[in-house]
Amino acid sequence: MSKTRVLTGITTSGTPHLGNYVGAIRPALASAQRPDVENFYFLADLHALVKCGDPARVQRSTLEIAATWLACGLDVGKNWFYRQSDIPEIPELTWFLTCVAGKGLLNRAHAYKAAVDKNRADGVDDDAGIHAGLFMYPVLMAADILIFNAHKVPVGRDQVQHIEMARDFGQRFNHLYGEHFTLPEAVIDENVATLPGLDGRKMSKSYDNTIPLFAPRAELKKLIAGILTDSRAPGEPKDSDGSAVFQLYQAFASREETAAFAQAFADGIGWGEAKQTLFERIDAEVAPLRENYNSLMAKPAEIEAILRDGAVRLRQAHATPTLARLREAVGLRDLSSVAVAAGDRIAKPAASQVPTFKQYREADGKFYFKLVQGERVMLQSIGFDSPRDAGARVAAIKHGEVGDAGSDFRLGDGVTADEVNAALEAFVAAQLDDKS
Ligand code: TRP
Repeated sequence: MSKTRVLTGITTSGTPHLGNYVGAIRPALASAQRPDVENFYFLADLHALVKCGDPARVQRSTLEIAATWLACGLDVGKNWFYRQSDIPEIPELTWFLTCVAGKGLLNRAHAYKAAVDKNRADGVDDDAGIHAGLFMYPVLMAADILIFNAHKVPVGRDQVQHIEMARDFGQRFNHLYGEHFTLPEAVIDENVATLPGLDGRKMSKSYDNTIPLFAPRAELKKLIAGILTDSRAPGEPKDSDGSAVFQLYQAFASREETAAFAQAFADGIGWGEAKQTLFERIDAEVAPLRENYNSLMAKPAEIEAILRDGAVRLRQAHATPTLARLREAVGLRDLSSVAVAAGDRIAKPAASQVPTFKQYREADGKFYFKLVQGERVMLQSIGFDSPRDAGARVAAIKHGEVGDAGSDFRLGDGVTADEVNAALEAFVAAQLDDKS
């Protein structure tokens, strides 16, 4: 059974906060338990350069996010865990995709468009202060996803457009160069909460309203005490609906605990007490992870080694062979494989030497095909039950899906595999010539 490949990336430009944990890390690790899924978890450090020009911060964030995944229980023996910049095939693929990506489509990417709109509002040049990294961000992200043929990409709503773009670039590439890429799907988990931050807006680094996931206990308590509430006094019934304290609690508590907390709100629990309850609940889940985190952060060399090892294995298993195929597909090829005539153009066989496919029926009632070049039989099929089956196989071979000799064809007597490949190339070249 082939597994569903699920890919999760986090940009390494900040300190992990409760919103990252609830929205991305916790659900992603729940999926790590499923036997039918192959997981890819990575640190998008090349993406960090788009937003963050502070080298120390990028390094620090990379360490913190790596330690967070590990502290939360990511099993690096069973899942792929790596740093984007350790896989040079990703930026290489980014260029291939750049050359099929529609510029008009990139113009419409939300983040870039928002930057342009702001410039217009400020009355400056459209592209003032915008670097090409922001513009190309979706192409790099498409490479992250397409290189491993991920089926599913769990993301927040703000990232859905990027997945659509990855599909678009993948499709264009497939159309031009053959079926190389699986088209990914965005997965938005409706059950995963969007956490409010200290001010009640969505918890986000850009609003500066986050609660760091592994803040020490005392700091966690202090931050929670600072969450914005209304001014109702103890004893007054409180609205659980719009309350950040309540929503945060809900993200960590069981159904029963949440129901009890809602009741306490209706009964007029004081904000101080509600926040204390929230603090204890979050700390109960986070404290053991915090302990793991602190001991991992004390051993950065071990984290470095884990990441490097993950990248080495992943390159070997997937990235390097995939890029070898893609290079071949786009024409970045070994020159010694070119069949050249004495002159400076690609050899064009005499008409009688142009290879052709012949389909026919034998006395056994079965349908066969062969590839003949001049007098020579280059390739001979087995018998197929229907002419359609034989025809479909010929069509596949014409499209480059030759397969191995001995499967459903054999090589002609005294013919080598290289000669068959050369014949097939000549066949394709002749067809192209006919069309031009
Ligand atoms: N752009 C994503 C974010 O900011 C991070 C990311 C980079 C990513 N490459 C990815 C997410 C590939 C999923 C798949 O959240």
